[in-house]
Amino acid sequence: WVLMVTAQCPTNIAVIKYWGKRDESLILPINDSISVTLDPQHLCTTTTAAVSPTFDTDKMWLNGKEISLSSGRFQSCLREIRSRANDVEDQEKGICIKKQDWEKLHVHIASFNNFPTAAGLASSAAGFACLVYSLSKLMNVKEEQGKLSAIARQGSGSACRSLFGGFVKWVMGNEANGNDSLAVQLASETHWDDLVIIIAVVSSHQKETSSTTGMRESVVTSPLLHYRSKEVVPKRIVEMEKAIKTRDFALFARLTCADSNQFHATCLDTSPPIFYMNDTSHRIISYMEKWNQFEGTPQVAYTFDAGPNAVLIAPNRKAASLLLQRLLFYFPPPSDTELSSFVIGDKTI
Ligand code: DP6
Repeated sequence: WVLMVTAQCPTNIAVIKYWGKRDESLILPINDSISVTLDPQHLCTTTTAAVSPTFDTDKMWLNGKEISLSSGRFQSCLREIRSRANDVEDQEKGICIKKQDWEKLHVHIASFNNFPTAAGLASSAAGFACLVYSLSKLMNVKEEQGKLSAIARQGSGSACRSLFGGFVKWVMGNEANGNDSLAVQLASETHWDDLVIIIAVVSSHQKETSSTTGMRESVVTSPLLHYRSKEVVPKRIVEMEKAIKTRDFALFARLTCADSNQFHATCLDTSPPIFYMNDTSHRIISYMEKWNQFEGTPQVAYTFDAGPNAVLIAPNRKAASLLLQRLLFYFPPPSDTELSSFVIGDKTI
């Protein structure tokens, strides 16, 4: 027999960024972060986790290609989920797995991303969140979502935020064992559903410096990062929570853009400097800043993760439609810049 579970998990976009760890192996951050989770039908990972007595080893396939499971991160997630497994019964199939059997049984996992892996579109976030969630369902783990987020965190920090929809805060926590470093939902997906997110794919090539390596180098060499995590982010988190609660787009946009720019400034402050954005990313920022200034009130928020792609957030469909028209006019694809655009959250635009 084979027992399997399929789950789908969307990616999330940080509006107050996580950059820097205080514990590398448990993946504990140096500051809180806040993100928005995308609608599940767009940028998401779909994972099927299966168990059978005929499987003689754990195996995983990513986008159809077998990958090694030797990484400590994958092993931590699997170990944490296995240790919380419970009895599973499927009477139709005549399957009865006892709690203690899970230690001996092996799993096969197949995962697909519907977007480019490692192009700065937070694929590891959706990937590990989906892995942990599907394994927890397969093994009948009864932990609440927050606890599962702390397990997903050990796969990739940003993954803990993808266990919830809407606006999510990753609380950095204080405990050395990381038990209090987990995600909490700030507002559900219906709270501010006027927002439209547009992702301008400037390049879908794999980034040169992974987030993990980049933030390790920043922690060691960037004085700005330490100033940011202690002096800037705690205040921004309070303000951002207020902006979300009151749906204050002007405040939300100001904080989102400022935090993205400071994150990239810490990358430049790292030795050797890390360049995630390219000329097209810089041109998009200038354009958005000019537009917001011209209108007198923010029409768009921009944020860039560890890559050149722009995530643009508009307050409503009307603003998003105007934004898309302008993007396509000023950055027409195909061009030498490789820019192409697609809309997340509203297919009709
Ligand atoms: C710039 O979560 O990919 O997207 O914990 O080492 O796996 P690891 O890093 P990762 O870093 C994400 C960094 C970011 C900002 C964010 O998502 O908060």
